[in-house]
Amino acid sequence: MLVLIGVVVGALTTAVAYFLPWLPEQASEQREGIDLVFWITTGICVAIFALVSAVLIYSVWKFRAKPDDDTDGPPIHGNAALEVAWTAVPTVLVVIIGVVSAIVLARNDRGGPDALRIQVTAQQFAWNFKYPNGVTSATLNLPLDRDVVLQLRALDVLHSFFVPQFGQKQDAVPGELTKLAITPTKVGEYPIECTELCGLGHAVMRSQAVVMPVARYESWIRREGRRLRGPPGEAGAAVFRNQGCGGCHIFDPADSQGQIGPSLNELEKQARRAGKPLEAFTRESIVQPEAYLEPDYPNVMPKTYAQLPDDQLDALVQYLVDGARDENG
Ligand code: CUA
Repeated sequence: MLVLIGVVVGALTTAVAYFLPWLPEQASEQREGIDLVFWITTGICVAIFALVSAVLIYSVWKFRAKPDDDTDGPPIHGNAALEVAWTAVPTVLVVIIGVVSAIVLARNDRGGPDALRIQVTAQQFAWNFKYPNGVTSATLNLPLDRDVVLQLRALDVLHSFFVPQFGQKQDAVPGELTKLAITPTKVGEYPIECTELCGLGHAVMRSQAVVMPVARYESWIRREGRRLRGPPGEAGAAVFRNQGCGGCHIFDPADSQGQIGPSLNELEKQARRAGKPLEAFTRESIVQPEAYLEPDYPNVMPKTYAQLPDDQLDALVQYLVDGARDENG
């Protein structure tokens, strides 16, 4: 009877664990090991749950008191064999989980000798990415099936980089360089989430990882690199696009439609209201967005753009100033 209850509970729990889609789709090599640890742990949990449930249900049913039975139960004191068993078995199980996890994490940490290194900067409340040729972007572009090592820095407080489909998390720690190896195995767009409570904007500290075929990645990175070294207008447009400025701002030269921040077509008017020359105002609004706030707009622009490399910042300012002047003829 006891065994029967255990088998039934175990089967039901296994069905819930196995047939419901608890895990996000697998999109990196490293995820396989993480899933292995997950399933081993789940298996152990299901077995223990079935055992405990079986003993509990059986005892409640078998040893329940008769309605008119007011006597004390039999005095039982200790059971050496049982105590040794419930100490030794969990110890072995925990050691197994620990050893498997250690092996998986050690293997997942290997970035491969010629991994693509991308610098990740975390700051309240945005991510920024810098590729080996100097191109920067607000979303993370990755080539398919290539070893990538992310080098994470935090400029203010603790943040944590997590793409559920890639499996692993890594903290970004102020004053320290941490790393995370990823080998993407599936083309697609995946959410990047900050998983360390880092302040009021923690919930919106999100971005996207875009995994693309190697050829597309290579042509993107080369093209953007060329543009950065090209004429200032082109470089500025590239920075504007890669940093996702258009997601929040209207700017006709870039054909962007964002509504969250003030329209950049109106930069001249805004500079006049702020009482500053156009170029200085534009630069300040990028590196220190809270210095002047346009009425009726929330103070939500990330401060991360202050870390743009100088030449990219210059190009962006030039692009915005020229564009705003053209708009107003
Ligand atoms: Cu950054 Cu939470």
